[in-house]
Amino acid sequence: MIVLGIESSCDETSVAVLKDDAVLANLISSQDFHINFGGVVPELSSRAHIQIITSLVKEALATAGCTLDDIDAIGATAGPGLIGALLVGYTFARGLAFARKKKFVPVNHIEGHIFSGFLMEEKPEFPLLVLAVSGGHTLLLLVKSFTEIIKLGSTIDDAAGEAFDKVAKMIGLGYPGGPKIQVAAEKGDSHKIPFPIADLKGKYDFSFSGLKTSVLRYVQKEFPKETPILEKDFNDIAASFQFAVVKALLKKCELALRTYDVSSMSLVGGVAANSALRTSFLQLGEKYKKKVVIPDLEYCGDNAAMIASRAQSLLNAGESFSLETDAFPNFSSKYFINPPLANSL
Ligand code: KG4
Ligand code: ZN
Repeated sequence: MIVLGIESSCDETSVAVLKDDAVLANLISSQDFHINFGGVVPELSSRAHIQIITSLVKEALATAGCTLDDIDAIGATAGPGLIGALLVGYTFARGLAFARKKKFVPVNHIEGHIFSGFLMEEKPEFPLLVLAVSGGHTLLLLVKSFTEIIKLGSTIDDAAGEAFDKVAKMIGLGYPGGPKIQVAAEKGDSHKIPFPIADLKGKYDFSFSGLKTSVLRYVQKEFPKETPILEKDFNDIAASFQFAVVKALLKKCELALRTYDVSSMSLVGGVAANSALRTSFLQLGEKYKKKVVIPDLEYCGDNAAMIASRAQSLLNAGESFSLETDAFPNFSSKYFINPPLANSL
């Protein structure tokens, strides 16, 4: 099966071609101009998607060595995301499917991330523990199959990526915060400042707003107006903050591993690009003797390969979709099911 995937939920336009297990093309065009505004400007994002989508689809097909005639199905992100941005990729894909009589699969963006480990050569195995960390979501999930996802916990306030972005802005590192904090943290002392690690007792939920506030208080106290913040100070704050985030995330993963007997673990989403988090997640897998699958960097941030892959797994699972019944927008996954009792997987 050859699937064309289209993603446009935020500030990346991406088009991919997937042939069974092989990614033949995964082109990602990032809208870097948002840097000038300190964050994504929705209206500008939609316009930029419109400007590039047609040429990106042509380029992806050329890279894959395919024509539209070779495509069996088209999958496009139907949400969650910025409505105007989503509409560009979604309506483009739906129109193309209608005109060329292709199967059309509306894909939930979070499901795309959740199953992105399946783009790797070494695939995850069910039941699977997934930590999905992006700019908009922080989810701890037990995934029983391609159509059964159990939410164990989520953030009660900021998403992990959002916390990275806000703290980076707070200490003047700029946007996008995640990669900038990582670079600064590599040069800093992660034990310098004991930032709090939130633990909502006995639950799998996360909270990052207290941590964010304590970074703000620290900066205000240690560096009152006119006091220069040296590079070393930035680095130590970044390293100590990153350490606290990683610890908070891993703590809940460990709790889940002690409770549920899973076959493998997967770390996904934009924040999964963080090298400290990747290393700690791998170590946790080693400790519990679990197979660990973390997608390559190009599949952590927003990309269309994961959307094509999700479209493919849904079609393979026997799901069917109609071009007539419009599934837009799709902000909540219909494959989330209720939590099981411990060890009843
Ligand atoms: O999955 P994604 O590309 O978009 C959403 O669906 O939200 O995730 C973007 C998030 C941003 O908050 C960004 O700062 C964060 O992922 N991120 C990182 C790193 N690279 C991207 N966070 C920490 N360390 C990184 N290296
Ligand atoms: Zn995403």
